[in-house]
Amino acid sequence: MKNYMQLFRGTAFSSKSPKEIHILKDHLFGINADGLIEKIIAPDDSEYQPLLDAYQGQSNFHQLAEGQYFLPGFVDLHVHAPQWAQSGTALDIPLHDWLNTYTFPLESKFSDLDFAKKVYDDLVSTLLANGTTTVLYFATVHKEASLLLAEICAQKGQRGLVGKVVMDDPEQNPEYYRDADTRAALADTEEFILAVRELAQTTKQGVYPVVTPRFIPSCTDESLKGLGDLAAKYDTYVQSHCSESDWAHGYVQDRFRKNDAFALHDFGLLRDKSVMAHCNFLDEPDADLFAETGTAIAHCPISNAYFANSVIPIAHFHAKGLEIGLGTDVSGGFSPSLFDNIRQAVISSRMLEDGVNASLPAQERGVPGSRITVHEAFYLATAGGGESLSLPIGRIEQNFVWDVQIIDTKLPSAKLPIFDEHEDLQDVFQKILYLVQPEHIREVWVQGEKVHSR
Ligand code: GUN
Ligand code: FE
Repeated sequence: MKNYMQLFRGTAFSSKSPKEIHILKDHLFGINADGLIEKIIAPDDSEYQPLLDAYQGQSNFHQLAEGQYFLPGFVDLHVHAPQWAQSGTALDIPLHDWLNTYTFPLESKFSDLDFAKKVYDDLVSTLLANGTTTVLYFATVHKEASLLLAEICAQKGQRGLVGKVVMDDPEQNPEYYRDADTRAALADTEEFILAVRELAQTTKQGVYPVVTPRFIPSCTDESLKGLGDLAAKYDTYVQSHCSESDWAHGYVQDRFRKNDAFALHDFGLLRDKSVMAHCNFLDEPDADLFAETGTAIAHCPISNAYFANSVIPIAHFHAKGLEIGLGTDVSGGFSPSLFDNIRQAVISSRMLEDGVNASLPAQERGVPGSRITVHEAFYLATAGGGESLSLPIGRIEQNFVWDVQIIDTKLPSAKLPIFDEHEDLQDVFQKILYLVQPEHIREVWVQGEKVHSR
C-alpha cells in the first residue's frame, strides 16, 4: 500500500471549468512529503477501504466532521500590505487625491521596521484566517521592510509573492515618499530579488520576488525600462496597476499616446509572469496583447466600486480566454476577504448587465451578457489565480499542492442555513460562498502544513 505523509478524508469542492465545479464526495486525499496531492481516491475505488483501515486512528489521518468541507485555499492577486493599517477608512475621495492625502503618508511610515512588523504580522495572519493561502503583495519603496514582509510570509507558511514598490519620478511622487533616484530604485530592486530568492530556499511553500513599478505615473521611462530588463534577467513575476481609472488611464494616454498595456509592453513589462491590477479601461487590442503575452488581470471588484469609475467587463475578457484572478486590493478594497470579493464580483457584473440608470428604457440601460455566476467568481479566486501565477495551486486535483481551507457549516455559534441533511451539494457550495464568515474557516493548510486553526 502507498505510504502518504498525510491522508485526509472528506468532501471537497474545486473548479472543473470556469462555470462548473467538481464535487468530490467523501474522497480520500493522499498528500506526499512535498505537500502535493499525490492521489485522490473515490469511495468506490478498491484502495479506499484498505487505506482507511490502515490510517484510521493515526496522527497523520484527518477526517472531516459532518458539515465540514474542503475548499482550495484562495489566491489573492492584489494586496497593498502597508495599506492594511488604513483598511476600512479614507475611501471618500478619488484615486489621485486618495494616494496623496492618505496612502503615501501611510506608506512612508514603513521606513520604521517596528511599525512594519506590527502591520505585516497582523495582515499575513488575517489573510490566512480568511482562507487566503497565496498572495501577490505590493510592499512599499523600502527594501528592508519589503524583505521583512517576505520573511513574515516565509515564517507563517503563506505563499507570498512580494514586490518592493518602485516610484522614482521626482515630478510625480512626494519628496517624503519615493526612491532616492532611478539608479537606487533599480539597484534596490535587484538586491531585493536576490535576497528573496535566497529566503525562498528556506521555505516549503515558496516565496517569490516581484518586479513592481507602482504604476506608469510614478515611474520614469528609465526605471520602467530597467525594471523590464530585471524581470527578463531574473525571470521574475511583474505586477503593476493598469488602466484603472479615468485619471490613471488618461495620464498614460497624455504621456505616451497609447494605453497602459502597450506602454508597459514597450518596456518589457508584459510577460507570462505579469499580473496587472484592475484593467478596467482595457480595449480590444489591449486585451489581445494580454492574451498574446500571457499577462493576467487581477480583478478587484470592491476597490473598483470606489476608484475605477466603471465596471470591468469580466465575462467578456474571460470569454476571450484571458487569465483572470481576484484581488482584494487592500485598502482600496476595504475587505481582506476573497469571499467578500467573490460576492462583489457577482453583484458588480449583474449591475453592469442590467445597468444602473432607471430613467433609461430597460434595453438601453446595461451591457447584455455581462453577468458572471458565483461559480465563475469562485474560479477567479482559486483556479484562475493559480493559472495567472503559473503555479499548481487553486485546485484540489492530483499534482496540485495541498492548499486548502476547511469550512465548518455547523459551527454551533454560527450555523449556515442548511436544514436538510441530504441537501444538494451544489446548494451547499453556493451557501458557503455567499454566507461564510472567517469564524467558519476552521483550518487552513499550505503545501501540506497547517498554518491556521481556530
Ligand atoms: N494606483 C497606484 N497606486 C495605487 C494604489 O495603491 N491603489 C490603487 N487602487 N490604485 C493605485
Ligand atoms: Fe492597487
